Formats: sequence, structure tokens, C-alpha cells
Amino acid sequence: IFLLIFIVTQVFYSLFATKMRNKTNSKLPPGPFPLPIVGNLFVMNNKPHKSLAKLAKIYGPILTLKLGQVTTIVISSPDMAKEILQTHDSLLSDRTVPHALTAFNHDQFGVGFLSLSPLWREMRRVCKNQLFSNKSLDASQYLRRGKIDELINYVSQCSLKGEAIDMGKLAFKTSINLLSNTVFSVDFANNKDLVMDMSETVGSPNMADFFPLLRLIDPQGIKRTYVFYVGKLFGIFDNIIDQKLKLREGDGFVANNDMLDSLLAEENKKELDREKIQHLLHDLLVGGTDTTTYTLEWAMAELLHNPNIMSKVKKELEDTIGIGNPIEESDVARLPYLQAIIKETLRLHPIAPLLLPRKAKEDVEVNGYLIPKGAQIFVNVWAIGRDPKVWDNPNLFSPKRFLGTKLDIKGQNFQLTPFGSGRRICPGLPLAMRMLHMMLGSLLISFDWKLENDMKPEEIDMEDAIQGLALRKCESLRVIPTKIS
Ligand code: HEM
Repeated sequence: IFLLIFIVTQVFYSLFATKMRNKTNSKLPPGPFPLPIVGNLFVMNNKPHKSLAKLAKIYGPILTLKLGQVTTIVISSPDMAKEILQTHDSLLSDRTVPHALTAFNHDQFGVGFLSLSPLWREMRRVCKNQLFSNKSLDASQYLRRGKIDELINYVSQCSLKGEAIDMGKLAFKTSINLLSNTVFSVDFANNKDLVMDMSETVGSPNMADFFPLLRLIDPQGIKRTYVFYVGKLFGIFDNIIDQKLKLREGDGFVANNDMLDSLLAEENKKELDREKIQHLLHDLLVGGTDTTTYTLEWAMAELLHNPNIMSKVKKELEDTIGIGNPIEESDVARLPYLQAIIKETLRLHPIAPLLLPRKAKEDVEVNGYLIPKGAQIFVNVWAIGRDPKVWDNPNLFSPKRFLGTKLDIKGQNFQLTPFGSGRRICPGLPLAMRMLHMMLGSLLISFDWKLENDMKPEEIDMEDAIQGLALRKCESLRVIPTKIS
């Protein structure tokens, strides 16, 4: 019966929506004709960045789709991205919330999916001034140093045994521990399956996201699964917070300088109670792990694919740091080629290829077109990063294109915004950059790398697909390290 009611409602809705669409048609950006009920949902396969880039070639840099019932605007040029992320940022900075993320009312407390609101502003203030400030990150770098040493020790053992390493798995374990130690001084690698399952659940296609009526029954059970995972995660956070509070009561307590210490500090207590802290910790761990993991995996894949670039970066490291010396976070400023490699990796392989979806608070006019109130907005940074009108030889991995330029990833250059821009730019950017340069630099200065089974560089499969929440390499990268003595 429910199915029948659903189909009838959807047919009526489609007819009504088409009528309304025709009325405002001249003002909406162009786009492919939507089929009844499903609209243009067929583009949302596991490579939506590619399907949308193809559509942009036909309909232009601002286009309209109907994803089920959700009107969606897709942006595919730096000029249009600037309109969305800078000019009209204040009206286009809400989020469409995946149904899974309404678990535990996360949409009302989590910084990543709250609408612009006093609570969101407060959380962003805490992120900017306390958690991710240079001062705090300098103070917590000793926590990350220990994890980098563990990474080098582990790879040294594999080198002695001549064992191949799955780079994605190694990157995940290292990223999650770097992050969790920065956040609350605890190794979280034991819970890596939970974090992976969570991002896979939120990232899996959910009909309830496209047909809001289905939220009533959660037909694929995705929200129910996510409620289970969040319950488990919050239970772990509860233990960690309890232990921290107990330590703080003890005599001679010395703070670790981790993020939880800052959050629990007296001045934050009023605004951020335990529940809100748990939601923030959720966003830091789930938002920070896949993103840094897959960026590192892509950087290594590109370097093994391009041996001449691998030699150049190793030379820079040897000349600047010296073989056998550990890299410190403060060294990164003296390693322009290493920095260029990370930027080039993020250009070709932006981990969030459509950013996180924005939502229009009001009707907004962009380039003579209407972005209607409530519409969802994707910015296809993958397409912008590979546009021949924007980049010379766009498909070539060429870090030197960044040398001697001011082109950066901090949200000011709209041809390269892998972390987004404007009010909602990724708050974790400063930490992500420290983690990525430290992991990659340490793996390159201490080891030589070759592909398993004598595979040739040109044989590496560089195909990508969305997995969970992130754009990752389809085939795992298996490599054999040799310690440089
Ligand atoms: C938001 C990318 C690492 C926490 C975002 C957004 C992007 C992004 C594209 C949406 C921006 C927008 O809407 O304009 C990345 C990439 C990373 C990375 C490429 C690494 C390579 C991290 C890390 C953390 C983090 C390490 C935390 C430890 C967050 C949070 C948000 C966010 C909390 C939501 C902010 C908001 O909506 O106000 N990130 N991120 N990210 N990121 Fe990251």
C-alpha cells in the first residue's frame, strides 16, 4: 500500500514539478530533460564527477539536474565557482543533509552539516582559534612525531623482510592514528573498521536522499545502520572523555595539548557540552581520515607512475633534510617541490570531487540564472582541475606548474579549491597539510620504492571511483620498500 501511495504521489509531484519548471524554465540554468519520478538520477553512479563533467560540456558551467525530487545545480568553471563560494557565499552555505546523518540528530549538532547558525559559528570559532590554530598544532606536533616514527619502524621491518605493502591500508592506519592522537592522544587504528564502515554507510546511495517521503521508512535501512555505528562511536568517545576528566581531577595533571584538552577547558564548557563535543569529534575523525588517507595513496601512485618526478623530490629531500634525518613539520616550508606534489595530487585527485553539497537559503541569481531556494549545489572541482581551458596539459601530473607561482589550495584561487572556499572551507586544512607532507616526506626520504611483481610504472591502473565519501584509486597500490642506509 505504501509503495502504491508513494508511486501515485511521485507521479503527481512530477507533473506538478514539470509545470512549475516550465514556468521558471527560462530562469533555471539549462540541463538534460528529467524523466518522470527519477529525474536525472542516472548520473549518480560511482563516478558522478565524470558524468557531470560530460554534461557540463553540453550544457555549460552552470547546469540544472533533477535528482529524484531534489533540484541540483552543478558548477564546473572557476568563474562560476567564485560566484557560489565567494560572491553569494552567505546565501549558499547551508547543506543538504544525507538522511543517514540525521542519526542522533547529528544534523543539528555536527559542524559539517549544520545550517549557518549561532552553534555552527561557535564551532567554527573553536576550530579556527583553538583546535587548528598554528599555536595549537605546533604544541601537538610531538604527538604526531611519535606516530611518524612508528610508521618508519613498520616500513623498515617490511623492507627487511622484502614484503610488499598495501599503501592504502598503511595510509589509513597512519592517518587515523595521527588524527586521533592530535584529537585525544589515543590510537584509534583498532577502531579503523568502524570508521571505514561509517564513511561507507554515509556514502552509499540512499533513495531517501532523493525522495524525502521515503525517510519515513528508511527502505534501505541506511539510517538505522548509521544509528548503530554512531552509538558505538559515541560509547568510545564517552570512555575517552571520562578518562580525561578523571586525569584532570588528579594532582599534578599536565594537559597533553590535544584537541580534547582544549574542548574540555573551562572557557568552552558553557557553549560545548559533552553531547556537542561528541558530534564535533565525529566530524573530525570521519571527515579527516579518508581524505588524508586517499590523498597520500594518490600521491604515492603518481610518484611511482612518474619515476623522474620521484627522483626530483627525493633529491630535494636529500639536499634539504639529509638522508637518515627525520623531517619535522617546520621543515615543510623549505620543501617547495614536495608541496607542489601535494597540490598537484589534489588538483588531479580531489578527494571530495563535488565538495560537500551546499544548499540555497534563498533564491539567488547567478549569471542571469536562478538558483532556487532549497536547491542543492555541487561544485565539480574534479572537472575544473582537468579543464584544458584552465590548465595546460591538464591530464599530466606536473608539480612544477606550481613552482614560482602563488597558486594555492587555501580557497582564494577558484581553479583549485579541493578544500572548498568561503565560510565552509575545510577547517582541517592546516592539519591535513601537516599530516600529508610529514607522511609523504618521511616515506620518501627513508625508503626507495618499487612496484610489486616487477610491474612497470606505466602499468599502474590510475582509474578512480567514489568509495564511501571519497574519491579513491580503484585498484590497491602494492609497493615494496627498501630502506636507504
Ligand atoms: C569540510 C576537503 C581533511 C574536517 C570539507 C570540505 C571539503 C573538504 C571539500 C567542504 C568545503 C566546502 O563546503 O566548501 C578535505 C580534504 C582533506 C580534508 C581534501 C584532506 C586532504 C580534513 C581534516 C579534518 C577535516 C584532516 C579534521 C580533522 C572537516 C570538517 C568539515 C570539512 C569538520 C565541515 C566544515 C563545515 O561544513 O563547516 N573538507 N578535508 N577535513 N572538513 Fe575537510
